[in-house]
Amino acid sequence: MSKHRLADADMVEQADSGTDSGATRRSLNPSGTDTLPAPEKPRVIAVANQKGGVGKTTTVVNLAAALALGGLKVLVIDADQQGNASSSLGFRHLAEDQLSLYEVMTEGAALRDALVQNEKIPNLWVVPASMNMAGIELELNERTNFQQILADAVHQLLNSGEHFDYIFIDSPPSLGIMTVNALVAAQEVLVPLQAEYLALEGLTQLTKTIDMLVIRLNPDLRFTGILPTMVTTNTLLGKGVLEEVRAYYGNIVMETIIPRNVALAEAPSHEESILTYQPASKGAKCYLDAAYELVSREEKS
Ligand SMILES: Nc1ncnc2c1ncn2[C@@H]1O[C@H](COP(=O)(O)OP(=O)(O)OP(=O)(O)O)[C@@H](O)[C@H]1O
Ligand SMILES: [Mg+2]
Repeated sequence: MSKHRLADADMVEQADSGTDSGATRRSLNPSGTDTLPAPEKPRVIAVANQKGGVGKTTTVVNLAAALALGGLKVLVIDADQQGNASSSLGFRHLAEDQLSLYEVMTEGAALRDALVQNEKIPNLWVVPASMNMAGIELELNERTNFQQILADAVHQLLNSGEHFDYIFIDSPPSLGIMTVNALVAAQEVLVPLQAEYLALEGLTQLTKTIDMLVIRLNPDLRFTGILPTMVTTNTLLGKGVLEEVRAYYGNIVMETIIPRNVALAEAPSHEESILTYQPASKGAKCYLDAAYELVSREEKS
């Protein structure tokens, strides 16, 4: 077990579940200094898997929160019309004049003008999805270079003087236009994989799409890792699937695994990440571990 992990567990146990973000942040960083190293360049990570309900949004929200609590400036772009990442981070309802990813994708609005700040974690920013996004795939289909829209918007944001250390893009459960936009805009892809029977079949389809994109549209895209989610290691089936995934994908599979944990399922209805909702839970500890592992995978990926 790494030094980070031991430290994490202690810090999380000490953290309270109060509503003051300063208190939470101090609990996570008792020295009062930022503990996570910033990447050399901003890392833009698409979290993708065309299978529904595998933990994409949970992973985006909680990794983003963990890194932001570690002192890094983090942005979540919600590219899923379901808007689950937005609502999990406090933006279930948007102010009337609030721009969303819809205006960015269809009207050329700047991402910078669509940023909203998370209430509990000031380092965490969101570009929310909106209800209008329900028909976005049909709207964008008509455009030339429609796969490139989000990439151009992210590029513009990062050249606008606005700094982010990490940008996560949550994508919908399909391999449609929004997922493709996410994969083209990103430098890295992180795949949450629910460790269950048949999980590997869907993964083959995703990796084929990624290979195709890499050749055609985004030759720089790298595989950051596969994160096993909702793991039940107390069943033979759960263990077996995990072993199979590791045997097949080797080091791409992250060391950290995310177990089934009820607090992780409850947190979104409180519009909070697990790190502020229940910092002492197993789910919070595991997502902190995953955040540290993600940071350490910068050089390797
Ligand atoms: N480790 C976990 N333990 C328990 N519940 C979890 C865990 N991870 C996610 N969940 C719950 O499972 C459901 C699906 O998770 P999530 O929304 O993150 O998946 P998704 O891949 O983003 O789904 P979609 O494909 O619909 O976007 C949610 O209700 C979530 O709260
Ligand atoms: Mg989702």
